[in-house]
Amino acid sequence: MTGTIIIAGLGPGADDMITPEVRNAINSATDIIGYIPYVARIAPRAGLSLHPSDNTEELDRAAHAFELAANGHRVVIVSSGDPGVFAMAAAVFEVLETASEAYKAIDIQVLPGITAMLAAAAACGAPLGHDFCCINLSDNLKPFSLIEKRVSLALEGDFAMAFYNPRSKSRPHGFEKILALLQARTSPDQLIIFARAVSTKAQEITITSIAEAQPDMADMRTVVIVGAKATRTIETPDRRYIFTPRSSPSQ
Ligand SMILES: C[S@@+](CC[C@H](N)C(=O)[O-])C[C@H]1O[C@@H](n2cnc3c(N)ncnc32)[C@H](O)[C@@H]1O
Repeated sequence: MTGTIIIAGLGPGADDMITPEVRNAINSATDIIGYIPYVARIAPRAGLSLHPSDNTEELDRAAHAFELAANGHRVVIVSSGDPGVFAMAAAVFEVLETASEAYKAIDIQVLPGITAMLAAAAACGAPLGHDFCCINLSDNLKPFSLIEKRVSLALEGDFAMAFYNPRSKSRPHGFEKILALLQARTSPDQLIIFARAVSTKAQEITITSIAEAQPDMADMRTVVIVGAKATRTIETPDRRYIFTPRSSPSQ
C-alpha cells in the first residue's frame, strides 16, 4: 500500500506553539525526516524511525521521503516555524514536479505552523499590523543583487519588512550591506526589531532605531523586523509595545 507524506511546521520553538494537528500527525507517523535540531524535538517511541540530516540536504531529504512513502510508510517531514516559509514544503514540490508517476500517486499534505516572523511580532505587539513583506536574506539560492533590489522596492513602498536568515558565519557581509541600505533610505528614528530564539528560553528581543542598529545584532537564530514609517512605540509602566496602525493617510 502507498504511504503518505506530511510536511509539518513545529513552530518557533515552544512546545505550546505546536498545533494539535501537527502533534496528531507526529503521533501517527512511522518516520520523521528533517534537519538535525528539528528532529531532535521529536520524542522517540517504538515504531517510529527518526532520520535527522544536515541543513544543506533539502532535496535529498525530500527524495528520501518519497522513497519511504512509496514503500508504505507514513512520513512526516518536520520544519521549524511554518513549512511553507523558506522551508521543506517547496523542496518537496520541487522534487514532485519531475518525479515518476508512482511518486505522483503519493498523498502530500502541508500542515501549517507558527512562523518566526509572527511569533516575533506577537512578542512585541503588532509591528506587522499594516502591509508588510517578508524577505529571505540568504543568497544561497538567489543572487544578492536580487535581495538588494527587493529590499529597495519594499522601502520605496514603505512596507514593514521581516528578514529571515539575516546573517551567518559564512555570510557576514550581506546584512551589513542591507543595514547600510536601510540607513541610507529611512529616517534615522525608524524602528527595527531583532528577535532572537523567539519562544525559547534563549529569547532575546532588541528594539532600536535603524540609525543605531549594528550588524552583529543579527545571527541565524534571529528574525529582523523593520518598521514602516508609521510604526511606533507605546510605553506603559510595565511594557514597551511596538505597533503599526492599520490605516495609512491617502497619498
Ligand atoms: C530556514 S529559515 C526557516 C523559517 C521557518 N520555516 C519559519 O517559518 O519560521 C530559518 C530562519 O528562520 C528564523 N527563525 C526560525 N526560528 C526562529 C526563532 N525561534 N526566533 C527567531 N527567528 C527564527 C531565523 O531568521 C532563521 O535564520
